[in-house]
Amino acid sequence: MKKLSILGATGSIGKSTLDLVERSPEDFEVVALTAASNVAALADAARRTSAKLAVIADGGRLQDLDDALRGSGCRTAAGQEGLVEAATGEAELVMAAIVGCAGLMPTMAAVEAGKTVALANKEALVTAGALMTEAAARHNATLLPVDSEHNAIFQCLAGSSSNHVARIILTASGGPFLSTTAEQMRSVTPAQAVAHPKWTMGAKISVDSATLMNKGLELIEAHYLFGLPSERIDVLVHPQSVVHSLVEFVDGSVLAQLGSPDMRIPIAHALAWPERIATPAQRLDLAAIARLDFEAPDLERFPALRLAREALEAGGSAPIVLNAANEVAVASFLDGRIPFPDIARLVESALEGNRRNGPSSLRDVIEIDGEVRGAVSMQIEERCV
Ligand SMILES: NC(=O)c1ccc[n+]([C@@H]2O[C@H](COP(=O)([O-])OP(=O)(O)OC[C@H]3O[C@@H](n4cnc5c(N)ncnc54)[C@H](OP(=O)(O)O)[C@@H]3O)[C@@H](O)[C@H]2O)c1
Repeated sequence: MKKLSILGATGSIGKSTLDLVERSPEDFEVVALTAASNVAALADAARRTSAKLAVIADGGRLQDLDDALRGSGCRTAAGQEGLVEAATGEAELVMAAIVGCAGLMPTMAAVEAGKTVALANKEALVTAGALMTEAAARHNATLLPVDSEHNAIFQCLAGSSSNHVARIILTASGGPFLSTTAEQMRSVTPAQAVAHPKWTMGAKISVDSATLMNKGLELIEAHYLFGLPSERIDVLVHPQSVVHSLVEFVDGSVLAQLGSPDMRIPIAHALAWPERIATPAQRLDLAAIARLDFEAPDLERFPALRLAREALEAGGSAPIVLNAANEVAVASFLDGRIPFPDIARLVESALEGNRRNGPSSLRDVIEIDGEVRGAVSMQIEERCV
């Protein structure tokens, strides 16, 4: 039985994780669950799984959580301290599934506590990749990729030496605007942007998929997870979302991992690793699918992917700036305050003005992140008045 903590238990990844855990109660003991502010869903999940600790990030909701869990035997906590406790307590395996840079501190705490970390929270690795991979090596922590692309690569690599790898190829569904013109993109709505054709996900990552920033963040994530430079990480648009990514080896062999577009498959792989557990995911019927298409991404219509590659190649603080500007811009787009193409424009302008040094500590990451958020928010305010 693995002792499991789920950071971000009320989100899309958190719920899929809970679904798998509840199907295999003999394999997992839930020791901690966390949420930002959704008390009802957190308390419900804590009761169902007999979790020992439930943490609400928003301290103002702690009393509500106490009330909701009265008599359950589940202890409660709040704020950053509570999140860190959930990440570092008795869990052996920590599912890091908070969205955005907000997940950085608890995810890093889990790494520094030497845990096995199933990593969905890509923004943590994008903003603090070098610090996190160094900390993982120093504290003997294991990072298991949950993102379907990175999980696919991890499975294809199966422990191969990086000397044997020529390149990796991340596949992208292309999102809901794959055939939308640049002109049409000016008037797309948040509801259209979050309506992903293949995956059901949280709002932020759905918008990132629509701009292709998600693939850009994954490019940076892949660089840190697999230790490959930008020129050995390619991106291919593959609308069917059946081939989740590929590895080309030096002898010309190419291995791919295939499966239905259901996050429970990569989540199950990370939860059970190095074993496997069954999932209810639909089995792949290749005869029914009949064809698999691939095309190069259009960097003119989707500049976010180009910006992410530039940020990866620039290094230093650029990935933190890219991520912070994107988080603020996506939230503003979802609030109906800026049009869709402004997301990439704001990210580009934040990167152009960036003169900050690279981070040497987590504190630096948080400081740069905060500065960029402030500057981009101000830029949006000025545009909106
Ligand atoms: N969804 C997918 O299929 C998918 C696939 C690959 C990778 N990922 C990555 O996995 C992560 C989670 O994505 P998601 O789609 O599951 O997101 P989501 O549905 O929006 O869920 C986010 C979770 O994080 C919590 N949270 C939000 N802000 C927080 C804060 N400031 N402090 C503490 N907790 C906070 C939320 O709590 P409340 O419910 O209380 O707001 C919720 O539990 C992201 O980094 C995403 O890129 C997701």
